[in-house]
Amino acid sequence: MLDRMQLGEVARKHHIQLRGADGELRFEECFTRDGFDGPYTIMYHLRRPHVHRVSVARHGWAAPVAAPERALAKRHYKTPALSHENGPQIDARVPLLFNDDVIAGVAFPTVDDPVYIADGDADQLIYIHRGGGTLRSLLGDVGFAQGDYVFVPRGLLHRFLLEPGTSQYWCWFSMTGGVHLPKQWRNDVGQLRMDAPYSHRDFKRPDLAGPRDENIRELVVRRSGTWHGFTMDASPLDVVGWDGTVYPWAFPILAFQPRVSSVHLPPTWHGTFAGKGALVCSFVPRPVDFHPEAIPCPYPHSNTHCDEIIFYAEGQFTSRKGVGPGSISHHPMGVPHGPHPGSYEKSIGTKYADELAVMVDVFQPLAVTAAALNVEDAGYQDSFL
Ligand SMILES: [Fe+2]
Repeated sequence: MLDRMQLGEVARKHHIQLRGADGELRFEECFTRDGFDGPYTIMYHLRRPHVHRVSVARHGWAAPVAAPERALAKRHYKTPALSHENGPQIDARVPLLFNDDVIAGVAFPTVDDPVYIADGDADQLIYIHRGGGTLRSLLGDVGFAQGDYVFVPRGLLHRFLLEPGTSQYWCWFSMTGGVHLPKQWRNDVGQLRMDAPYSHRDFKRPDLAGPRDENIRELVVRRSGTWHGFTMDASPLDVVGWDGTVYPWAFPILAFQPRVSSVHLPPTWHGTFAGKGALVCSFVPRPVDFHPEAIPCPYPHSNTHCDEIIFYAEGQFTSRKGVGPGSISHHPMGVPHGPHPGSYEKSIGTKYADELAVMVDVFQPLAVTAAALNVEDAGYQDSFL
């Protein structure tokens, strides 16, 4: 969560009357996390926000199903080769790797979401590899562009609108344990520290134009992996104002300020978002380590408690060969991993890492789906010989 924001009309104190110009009472909704102990937002509706008729869910991406267990090996999935599921992102998402904390996948949405969505299971973090558009939500619109991470808080009513004429290619993470900014980037009052790798100004925040009616009356809600349907008699986008710290945002990956040291820094320094059981790191173009005897390429390592996945976006990844934009590598805990043959030695004397990638370390083993197996690079494990 970021700092507190306030948009539109709010009462001058929590839980007291707010009335419109016509004298009509607004309806407060307290949108809280972690019971009532965590971050929260309080919004004001024109109408009661809890009026829904149970219906049938006509949309929703399929929960991941694990492929049969197989050998422990380094894996590489070429996601550009996935057969593109057309449609809105709510249907077009393809889960690839998952555990109880995180589902990772890609999506190539082609049309706007036709219904409203509230994900009751997880926060959503979507890396926009290609494309752009608008995240429309109860709390306002957030514009997003290529290279942005888009954050949607668990439970927030929203839908995605795509920029016309732009092809979309997203890498998404559904994070049950939440999406947070790592604690080490905050000071005691929660503000981002001056030595953090980004500042409050770097985030694209919601813009609330006021109540609107898009003539959409359907809502789908994910709970325990299943989508449930509701209908509403009126537009749910009736919020006149809100304040709080729970709201959607977008963050451009290139706004991340990378660290460089005399010798190679561990990925923790590239930590951008954290949640229970997951750390999301951004690798952005940067000068490399400058000790006269530095080896800029990442050292072989046994990160004994993490499975590591990397989504390669652009550029040349110093340590890996045979991966390109849209590749996802999966290096499991239990065995060490490291650079491809020759990369370690070849990096000596280099000055710049021209790479753009999103890495996620997860603390529980990942299962793979059949969709991922369809685009697996079968020679990846042996490419390290
Ligand atoms: Fe690694």
